[in-house]
Amino acid sequence: MKSLYDTIGKDYDTTRKADPEITRRLTHHLQIPSESKVLDVACGTGNYTVAIQESGLQMVGCDISNEMLTRAKGKSQYVQWDYADVTQLPYSDHSFDGVTCILSIHHFDDLVAAFKEVYRVIDQGRFVIFTSDPNQMNNYWLKEYFPKAIEQSAKKMPGISNVNEILEDAGFEIVGQETFLIQPSLQDFFLYSGKFDPHMYLDEKVRSGISTFANIASEEEINEGCRRLSHDIETNRIEYVLAKHSSVIGDYVYIVAEKN
Ligand SMILES: C[S@@+](CC[C@H](N)C(=O)[O-])C[C@H]1O[C@@H](n2cnc3c(N)ncnc32)[C@H](O)[C@@H]1O
Repeated sequence: MKSLYDTIGKDYDTTRKADPEITRRLTHHLQIPSESKVLDVACGTGNYTVAIQESGLQMVGCDISNEMLTRAKGKSQYVQWDYADVTQLPYSDHSFDGVTCILSIHHFDDLVAAFKEVYRVIDQGRFVIFTSDPNQMNNYWLKEYFPKAIEQSAKKMPGISNVNEILEDAGFEIVGQETFLIQPSLQDFFLYSGKFDPHMYLDEKVRSGISTFANIASEEEINEGCRRLSHDIETNRIEYVLAKHSSVIGDYVYIVAEKN
């Protein structure tokens, strides 16, 4: 079956790379000694899988898109790369000391099955998820220019309390939650990475690596949104728009669950 990311995957790495700060927090939340074995589910082109491996952990990356995996395979021979659906992982029970999942849970059709499967393959250890909550997304200033796309994306995004409930039903204990604020120095261009750099969204290459623009927004909404954004940047009205949008609940979130 051709997955959504078989199309996005072709140019994904033009604008997507592992951000050092996100990688640092992911490994911090895993709380495991070096050489421990970690699975990165929905690893995509493997940017974070390789960055975490370079921090000293033994990594396995799996994904449902062959296009994304082909790119991942070219990045490191020290990572084991597998084609796998998160709801049917090809690993024995208790195979890993930790699991990560970055910017991907909103793509899973069945979170209940996915989290049960992750629980099964962890021995003892943590499952660290990096995602955003619909309430955070509804505060993104992007909504001013691409309202339908952001609303639809937020609707697709599982809320934190729902995620926590499903994790607990799968057997996990929730041991932590940390909000993440976009920094101007962020190196991975995902949906709200241009929080401080509105020009970013005028670049078609940047938009093509972000599923909200590549698959949810209509061409008409993108054209109209970019036209208004470009005008507001020129007239400096953008400063007013940015100031109107609060980030008091963070822009993204790490959810940390543990299997004992
Ligand atoms: C936004 S990308 C994130 C990739 C990577 N984690 C990163 O941060 O660069 C989402 C990934 O989820 C993968 N994916 C979606 N559904 C999946 C599933 N059921 N099982 C495994 N991977 C899946 C897609 O193929 C895609 O590579």
